[in-house]
Amino acid sequence: MKMRSILMVGSLVSVTLFPALAQADADWKRGRVYYRMVCTQCHTEKAGGAISPSVKSKAEWTAYFQADKHAKGKDAVKFYFSSKFRDSIKATNKAAAKFSDVPEADLAEDVKEFLQKGAKDGDAPARCS
Ligand code: HEC
Repeated sequence: MKMRSILMVGSLVSVTLFPALAQADADWKRGRVYYRMVCTQCHTEKAGGAISPSVKSKAEWTAYFQADKHAKGKDAVKFYFSSKFRDSIKATNKAAAKFSDVPEADLAEDVKEFLQKGAKDGDAPARCS
C-alpha cells in the first residue's frame, strides 16, 4: 500500500515536471539534425556551400540570432524555423516533416544550442560535412 502510493506520487511528479524540464533544456541533438538537414541543405545549394557552426564564436552566434538578419539582411533567420517554412518543404525534406509539430521557439532554441556547442570556441567545434 505504502509502496503503491509512493509509485503513484512518483509518476505524477514526473508527468507534471517533465514538460518544464524539457523546455528548460534545449535539445541540441534535434538542433543538429535540423541545422544539417534544413539549413545546410539550402546553403549547399544556394549559398555557395555549407556554413559550419565553427565559422563563428559563441558570442557571434548569439549576436547573429539577436540581429535576425539572414542572407546579408535579405530575410530573417527566424523565418526558417517557422511552421510555414517547414510546411513548404516537408514533402521533400525529412527533418522538416519529422519536426513539423515542434513549436517554432523550441526548434530555434535547439539550433542555437547546437551552434553554441559547435562554435569555434564551443565544447565541440563542428564543421559541416
Ligand atoms: C532556402 C534557403 C536557406 C535556408 C533554408 C537557410 N539559409 Fe542561411 N543562407 C541562405 C543563403 C542564400 C545565404 C547566403 C547569402 C549571401 O551570402 O548572399 C545564407 C547565409 C547564411 C549565413 C551566413 C551569414 C548571412 O546571413 O549572410 C548564416 C549564418 C545562415 N545562413 C544561417 C542559417 C540558419 C541557422 C538556417 C536554418 C535555421 C538557415 N540559414 C537556413 C539560404 C538559406
